Amino acid sequence: MSAADTQAASKAAAPSPDGAAPFLSIRGLTKTYGGHIANNQINLDVYPNEVLALVGDNGAGKSTFIKMISGVLRPTLGSIRIDGREVEMNSPKDARAAGIETLYQNLALVDVFTVQENVFMGRELQRRIAGLVPSLDHAGMRRRTEALFDELGLPKPDMTRPVRSLSGGQRQAVGIARLLLDADVRLIIMDEPMAALGVEESRVVLDFIQRLKERGYAVLIISHNLDHVFQIADRIAILKNGRMIGAVRRDEVEHDALVHTIVGGRLPPHLAHRSAEHLS
Ligand SMILES: Nc1ncnc2c1ncn2[C@@H]1O[C@H](COP(=O)(O)OP(=O)(O)OP(=O)(O)O)[C@@H](O)[C@H]1O
Ligand SMILES: [Mg+2]
Repeated sequence: MSAADTQAASKAAAPSPDGAAPFLSIRGLTKTYGGHIANNQINLDVYPNEVLALVGDNGAGKSTFIKMISGVLRPTLGSIRIDGREVEMNSPKDARAAGIETLYQNLALVDVFTVQENVFMGRELQRRIAGLVPSLDHAGMRRRTEALFDELGLPKPDMTRPVRSLSGGQRQAVGIARLLLDADVRLIIMDEPMAALGVEESRVVLDFIQRLKERGYAVLIISHNLDHVFQIADRIAILKNGRMIGAVRRDEVEHDALVHTIVGGRLPPHLAHRSAEHLS
């Protein structure tokens, strides 16, 4: 880490709602493609128990940013700290080990498998009755899946239905249950989880994002739908042309002012203190 990074890291990029230490601290995160700077010196803190929305126009650098913190892309420069300790994210496995899980848009579900088969895919429970070869413990997996949906506050479909018969919102819930089955997850990242969903289905997803937060997870969500953002986000971070404009609390910005910030790349004067500029 450079001296400038170290200096930046000693300052807080964003207000914590309750004075808690950030789970994730990003400083100077930069990604270049040839001469193009997709992410330019980004600073951001993510706290436990918050829903943080990442917004910005097409091409602002949102997906690039979350790919770096989920281990899919290597940063060109900058640091990622978890609980104050610098980590290297060379693969999604590293991110997972650090407590960061990402719900990808394709969800990686198998349509003809049931809910419980999808949740347990690749790590099925087995039961061994004395003297017999082990067999799949379907009842055990159903019970565990139902308990998991209850624990997470997820809408509970019939566990024995193939997931192709579920609504888009329910499928997202299955994707989340699968991510959280046995991992020690602290932060869940979602890139446009409502993009392909109708109003009712989006409602399902917005509801369970709220539940996940109530259960102590941090959620970082990219969305173009500002109505959704205002419904669920505690804070909103705005990217423009690869730069972090700032992170504001939902209750201190109006819809129109947020649109102006996204388009114009400047925070309204009363929120200038939320700017991330002084850190880069
Ligand atoms: N593999 C790549 N090679 C070259 N340039 C890239 C690559 N991936 C992204 N970019 C560029 O980096 C910039 C940021 O892209 P990114 O996908 O992060 O934007 P985004 O905010 O997620 O946009 P959208 O809202 O459209 O999903 C864009 O200008 C994009 O063209
Ligand atoms: Mg994107």
